[in-house]
Amino acid sequence: MTSAVPLADFPLLARTGRGGSRLVYLDSAATSQRPRAVLQAERDFLFHSYGPVGRGSHILAEEASTAVEDARDKVAGFVGVPSSELIWTKNATEAINIVSYGLLNAGLDGGELGLKEGDTIVVTRAEHHANLVPWQLLAARTGAKLAWLDVISEGPDAGRIDLDTLSVITERTKVVAITHVSNVTGAITPVEEIARAAKAVGALVVLDACQSVPHFGVDLDALGVDAAAFSAHKMLGPTGIGGLWMRGELAEKLPPVITGGSMVEIVTMENTTYAAPPAKFEPGTQPVSQIVGFGAACDYLQAVGMETIAAHEHALTERMIRGMADVDGVRILGPTTLENRVGAVAFDVADVHPHDVGQVLDASGVLVRVGHHCAQPIHRVFDTFSSSRASIGPYNTTDDVDAFLEALPRVRSYFGV
Ligand code: ALA
Repeated sequence: MTSAVPLADFPLLARTGRGGSRLVYLDSAATSQRPRAVLQAERDFLFHSYGPVGRGSHILAEEASTAVEDARDKVAGFVGVPSSELIWTKNATEAINIVSYGLLNAGLDGGELGLKEGDTIVVTRAEHHANLVPWQLLAARTGAKLAWLDVISEGPDAGRIDLDTLSVITERTKVVAITHVSNVTGAITPVEEIARAAKAVGALVVLDACQSVPHFGVDLDALGVDAAAFSAHKMLGPTGIGGLWMRGELAEKLPPVITGGSMVEIVTMENTTYAAPPAKFEPGTQPVSQIVGFGAACDYLQAVGMETIAAHEHALTERMIRGMADVDGVRILGPTTLENRVGAVAFDVADVHPHDVGQVLDASGVLVRVGHHCAQPIHRVFDTFSSSRASIGPYNTTDDVDAFLEALPRVRSYFGV
């Protein structure tokens, strides 16, 4: 099978791996490689149209401002939300912190979104730290209690959210913050079902969509959530830019976190009124060429088609999971059933530390992530602290998966275990 996208579009993938081996990039869940169209869009913008955005009336100010708003239309359209509700952020981590600190500020200001003692914030055990630590802090600072939906610990559905624990969402729940896809197990969360339970008690629902938006078509509005975060660099775009979508009403009520220029309306020596969202949450000069690249990444993905990408990646994931089942000493940390999962496949190799697994694979040109993947709690479900993870992107091929499956048995034989 070829890749879902022309490999010639990805210049980096033409280089070799360690020792001159063929480079097999299976680390897209950490960060994805960029197509020429994205690199070229940034370059063209910097060569011809770069200027101050939203500040001034000269030709470059106008062209640069138009480029940023065009990109906003593209990114917003890609995830199914109005452009006026899409906020630029540095990355998904910052996006989630804008919501959590905004809620803290709402409490300090006496606003209706503030949390108080006895309220609960609900997350899941599958969160990566970016969608866990901010909520732990918000709970500690407001006296709210953190509760979580658990995950299934055994069997073919291990790692999936255990909907039998949905009862942690109660009348006292004010926020439900969940991942759309676990970056460790690859499992897709049943977002609509959880959002319905949250809405029944009037809680806000915040979605971490970092690992879903790059892999299948996502209509954030239709999911029934109130806010969602995602990062360009995981979806063939640049680093340093991400998206935060908030429904209009929430963005109106939520106080800003970072204040200063560009997010204001009237400023006197005593007081400031804020600009309407999204500007209210976009202080200072934004990473404008990265924004242009983000728009180009969405254009690129849209042209290929998210259905094509999802089907391609699903076939590769199936091949990978079936192949891994035949390798002695390998355990997959996540569902081995194929529906409702993407191609992030964490695993451990008996008696070999993940860093050693990564080095042996790297020696064969196969690049995977090792460690806790910024998601320590879900590793505890599998009685471990860390793992290795192979993850698939649209440029991967069956040859890539086969190279991984050929290299994997060499790990234990290399260490004589
Ligand atoms: N979420 C990033 C990863 O999975 C940190 O690698």
